[in-house]
Amino acid sequence: MERYPVNIKVLAKTANEMVANGKGLLAIDESTGTCDKRFAPLGIPQTVEARRAYRQLIITTPGLSESISGLILYDETIRQKKDDGTPFIKAIIDAGIIPGIKVDTGAKDLAGHPQEKVTEGLDGLRDRLNEYFHMGARFAKWRGVIALSHCIPTRACIEANAQALARYAALCQEAGLVPVVEPEVLMAGEHTLAQCAEVTEVVLCTVFLELHAQGVMLEGMILKPNMMLPGAACPRQEGVDEVADATVKCLLRAVPAAVPGVAFLSGGQSGELASARLNEMNVRFKSRMPWELAFSYGRAIQQPALEIWRGDQANVLAAQQALLHRARCNRAARRGEYNDGMEKSSERMSHVAKQTH
Ligand code: 13P
Repeated sequence: MERYPVNIKVLAKTANEMVANGKGLLAIDESTGTCDKRFAPLGIPQTVEARRAYRQLIITTPGLSESISGLILYDETIRQKKDDGTPFIKAIIDAGIIPGIKVDTGAKDLAGHPQEKVTEGLDGLRDRLNEYFHMGARFAKWRGVIALSHCIPTRACIEANAQALARYAALCQEAGLVPVVEPEVLMAGEHTLAQCAEVTEVVLCTVFLELHAQGVMLEGMILKPNMMLPGAACPRQEGVDEVADATVKCLLRAVPAAVPGVAFLSGGQSGELASARLNEMNVRFKSRMPWELAFSYGRAIQQPALEIWRGDQANVLAAQQALLHRARCNRAARRGEYNDGMEKSSERMSHVAKQTH
């Protein structure tokens, strides 16, 4: 009997399309709680309708598909519709973008391990994946979080999260969905870049061991890791070149060449830094890397647009322009063609737009 009803070739084709042509993924899969947390400081109502209006703004941004290959949705969002009644998922497919879905149910306290989390969501996952596949989704996402301080992470935390990621990935491939495997070593803390790199290498090696144990086909998955960064509270903040060196070095050691794409999360970096760091890696190491080096950013693409929109219909066009700008910057970064000038010309344009308003 075929192990997977959907041919591995179909999964590999989708995975390759997700990182083809210099494009990347845009994560708009914030859970209701996280989305509301982002809305609150901007005075945006924390309602189903406000979340729908915001996701509609993103999905209907003209030209988004030039830079974005796939959109990661949340369960509430994948069931929503545009003002004219068109289901979001149809609008996304019609725009030439691959719809994806976040399927974990969040990071919960890991028993017996204070300050550590394990991501849940395996119970009933097979049925949920089948439903999402029939709705039109073609990839899924699961995020494990690893916090870093002087006494953590523990082996228990790394292994529990790696095993859950591998079981999720195997279930995805069985259902015909490309798993985006996201083990995130968090940026919060005082740790150094070297400590982040050391822990990330252990985490990635453990994840690939578990993926192998569960029979996951590497050709039909995408890895979504963190970059190697100093903790946000670390006094020494390395430059773009050191971050690029440490990140590519770690990935070359830990990520098998059969994986078609590595798509970074942004993890709280500014939009500009997330673009500049990705750019530097592609400028310096493109010819040495066996996988595409792409992006799967949430905040680093969305944040400026959200701050412009603020829940006001009158700001939709300006917010869409800001979103498109960040998406384009990251497409340029994939080609090693991003530079400061792109930010300055966009600033000039938004200044002119404000003056003529
Ligand atoms: P950030 O880029 O904001 O970290 O979000 C990416 C993501 O999908 C986290 O799971």
